[in-house]
Amino acid sequence: MSPTEAKDRIQALTAELKKHNYNYYVLAMPTISDYDFDHKLKELDKLEKEFPDFADPDSPTQRVGGEVTKEFVTVKHRWPMLSLGNTYNEQELIDFDQRIRKAIGDNFEYVCELKFDGLSMSLTYQDGKLARAVTRGDGTQGDEVTTNVRTIHTIPKKLIAGSNYPDLFEIRGEVFMHRKAFERLNKERVDNGEVPYANPRNFASGTIKLQDSAEVARRPLDCFLYGLYTEKQLFKTHWESLQAVKEWGFHVDDHSRLCSDIKGVLDFINHWDTERHHLSYDIDGIVIKVNNYSQQQELGFTAKSPRWAISYKFKAERVETELLAVTYQVGRTGAVTPVANLKPVLLAGTTVKRATLHNADEITERLKLHEHDTVFVEKGGEIIPKIISVNLDKRKPGAAAIKYVTHCPACDTPLLRTEGEAAWYCPNDEGCPPQIVGKIQHYIGRKAMNIDGLGDETIVTLYNQHFVRHISDLYDLEQHAPELKQMGRFGEKSINNMLEGIEKSKQQPFEKVLFGLGIRYVGETVARKLVAHFKNIDRLMAATVEELTAAEEIGERIAQSITEYFADPGHREEIEKLRQKGLQFVAEEKEVVLASDKLAGKNFIISGTFEKYSRDELKDIIEQNGGKILSSISAKLNYLVAGENMGPSKLEKANKLNIPIISDEELMGLLK
Ligand code: IVH
Repeated sequence: MSPTEAKDRIQALTAELKKHNYNYYVLAMPTISDYDFDHKLKELDKLEKEFPDFADPDSPTQRVGGEVTKEFVTVKHRWPMLSLGNTYNEQELIDFDQRIRKAIGDNFEYVCELKFDGLSMSLTYQDGKLARAVTRGDGTQGDEVTTNVRTIHTIPKKLIAGSNYPDLFEIRGEVFMHRKAFERLNKERVDNGEVPYANPRNFASGTIKLQDSAEVARRPLDCFLYGLYTEKQLFKTHWESLQAVKEWGFHVDDHSRLCSDIKGVLDFINHWDTERHHLSYDIDGIVIKVNNYSQQQELGFTAKSPRWAISYKFKAERVETELLAVTYQVGRTGAVTPVANLKPVLLAGTTVKRATLHNADEITERLKLHEHDTVFVEKGGEIIPKIISVNLDKRKPGAAAIKYVTHCPACDTPLLRTEGEAAWYCPNDEGCPPQIVGKIQHYIGRKAMNIDGLGDETIVTLYNQHFVRHISDLYDLEQHAPELKQMGRFGEKSINNMLEGIEKSKQQPFEKVLFGLGIRYVGETVARKLVAHFKNIDRLMAATVEELTAAEEIGERIAQSITEYFADPGHREEIEKLRQKGLQFVAEEKEVVLASDKLAGKNFIISGTFEKYSRDELKDIIEQNGGKILSSISAKLNYLVAGENMGPSKLEKANKLNIPIISDEELMGLLK
């Protein structure tokens, strides 16, 4: 493609994909399939790599983070981030209304908004571009989390051209996670042997505080904006400002309403008290705001909150029901999770039959559950209902206390518990059916080897019919094609698809294979970091805990789990078999900057995040050209390579020692 053609194509694709992003995330009305969108995004990404000069800095390809931020900078809020007074009943709301009438008379309106259950965020826009995102913190100052917030699709990085926004303004809103995403990602965490989050709010706030923005990008967050802050007052009312910011490109919730009196407010509250269960996200109440800005000013503030607004909090719904039995599920990592089976009962619009019991302590220590206890079940922010307490008045005389199982419910092996951990494990990973099946299902899964033609049910059948016991057995299935056909369970076409998919999986990169092995605590991100650092399976298998923790983002717990995994001869044998079958156990070659001795004798430290490179890539480039990486700033340091969000203490130290601070581009300049 000629440069002129490339430029035109990049521009056209950029504009088109931006429009689709807006349709999808802001209007919630996509006009393109995910598949076509991804296809076009890939085309754009490829062209931008070939012709970087034509890439739009605000390109849709840049919406995915990929950098590691080590620490957050504390930033003072220009306008303090206050909280709201809470009420839980109608009378308190009527009192609030009367206080307002007394102060400003009867001529005013309220804006009623949903109270989104997430974390509040303050965004600063300068010249139409997102300049900074800061968490609420203590209300006076918060953490600067711009890199992470830039991965949220509904937050515009650049405002819609032509709309009439001021040069500088702040806009505040709530970052949250939709329930569907929460359920999907939490299930993945459980599958990876990680602790699940209790509710979408915790997941969202845990995500915003992550150090790795690539991981943030993988966890879809959303944000509703509900407050505009400008030096000069641009609008007369809050309602007008909401309409305007919507036009500038912000995601504003459409459920807000103007109410002329408290009766309208109460109707709005009653409607949403039941309707909230049909939303795709959690709300924990309603926020009521006086609409007119000069009336807001007249009402003023108390020390903590405005007098012109209040929040009405919904009560978590609670019901009583009978505990029928406690059953246990065994995951692919062997973790045993207890589940309370309940007499079906209606709660928050759905029939509840089960509740999580988390771990053994929940049964024997916190709830002290007895057989057929009557329990109180609540559904607050949590998706899966929780047993709050036992109604002791209804305990049956002579009821036995529930004891946690001592043996695996699937294979009868005695359970083990690692010191300091809440969960019990079945150690029989080689012989416990749900673990074997779960591991193979994980391996073929979309995020791991993504094997077309094989599904979870097929794995169960193949296991039950003794075709597979290990991952490597999948690669022998071809030899068993006649027996598979004979079984009559699969048609010729589906067998061919299955075998084709298995054959194709041999091309999957090393990080996918490593993730697919299902090592405890080795999720997708950790697998990528390990591959970037160790490059091949032999170096990884030989690594000590110390060597492992020297890799980016790898802590003691992960390192221990990896060394334990590779210490098992069965696991080593399995890897050998997979290697023989032709699976990838070596990192794919990345574009390398030609090795030289141009940096010989020079010491470097890399800090912060970079647009084009990961820190591991920069480290490789420096080392391949003769430079050395130091672990701390000292007089021996020649250059500090600084990206975005570098810690302030590092900067101060480097400045004190007069050490040159250079960008990644300047580093590349040293190689020319
Ligand atoms: S207005 C001066 N509107 O609730 C008060 N807050 O306790 C500015 N929240 O920290 C807040 N939905 O995180 C406002 N529609 C909404 C909201 C909302 C959720 C959260 C926000 C704030 C807390 C107040």
